[in-house]
Amino acid sequence: MYRSYLFTPASDTRKMEKGLASGADAIIFDLEDGVAPSHKDAARANLVAFLESIDWGQPHPAVFVRVNGAMTPWFHKDLEAVYHPRVTGYMVPKVESRETLATAEAALLRAAGSADADFELIPFVESASALWHLPAIVQGQRRVTRAILGGEDLATELGIRPLPGGLSYVVPRGLLALLSRVAGLEPPVDTVYAAFGDEQGLRAELRQAKELGCFGKLAIHPVQIEAINEAFAPSDDDVAWARRVLDAFDVSLAEGRGAGKADGAMVEKPIAERARRILALADAVAARQRGSAGGNVEGGSGT
Ligand code: COA
Ligand code: MG
Repeated sequence: MYRSYLFTPASDTRKMEKGLASGADAIIFDLEDGVAPSHKDAARANLVAFLESIDWGQPHPAVFVRVNGAMTPWFHKDLEAVYHPRVTGYMVPKVESRETLATAEAALLRAAGSADADFELIPFVESASALWHLPAIVQGQRRVTRAILGGEDLATELGIRPLPGGLSYVVPRGLLALLSRVAGLEPPVDTVYAAFGDEQGLRAELRQAKELGCFGKLAIHPVQIEAINEAFAPSDDDVAWARRVLDAFDVSLAEGRGAGKADGAMVEKPIAERARRILALADAVAARQRGSAGGNVEGGSGT
């Protein structure tokens, strides 16, 4: 259950340190587009040393690493170098085929020296073809927990210049949420919002991503974390609504009816189920907050 994923370039130790303390649920140490081609080797070496230097006993976000794509000269070098047992998962950009995920998994298992090594594998969906074929691409890959929308690359392919909260990402977000479900994955993580100074635009993006079935969003700057965490945590009003719905549903069942009413609206089984999920998510968020105050907050998945 990660609401926010903060990107920090693996070439920038200061940002990596700040990212660990940013309040993000997860941090992504990036070797791909956050790092200039001239700095790929240095960034990889920096990341390997940084992972060794982290005090894993302190509260910290879940740690992910994004490697370079399969079509680049850095893909195999990254996979050979960056395995670390405390890393929750590895993100692979521009995934177009099952083979890319299988290659990444095999290389990481070799680096780990154990077929039982425990890590997630998360594909970025950044092209029309990858989106359309997602269920086939991830089929049989038990380490793939969810997909991430790589909106900037997809928009470039489609010739779209997205506006904050506009229509450009409605179909990609909705389709990725549906196809993730078809593939048995958790809800997808939403793309970055590059204009980090524009909180209103970010909130509009969050509203739409949530409404279309995404859970969690990528951040590129610490200033975005609070709005993202807030958007994916049930509000007090949501929790109160859920309790009223469940009370009304209990009453209707006790009276021998399948449907009841709350707040002037019908309540029936699927609506009660949504209310239960809201309460479960509120509990998970509260547990995470307790964890970040006094213990380790990594781990856990699902929404
Ligand atoms: N992670 C951690 N800390 C960050 C950060 C990030 N992504 N972005 C900014 N900060 C820190 C800065 O280090 C700075 O702190 P400091 O003054 O104590 O060093 C503070 O937040 C304010 O930063 P600001 O001056 O507003 O931004 P910047 O010019 O340092 O950086 C970006 C702007 C866009 C270059 C930077 O946010 C960034 O690199 N983002 C991630 C880019 C990335 O990974 N892209 C690939 C995925 S799309
Ligand atoms: Mg991209």
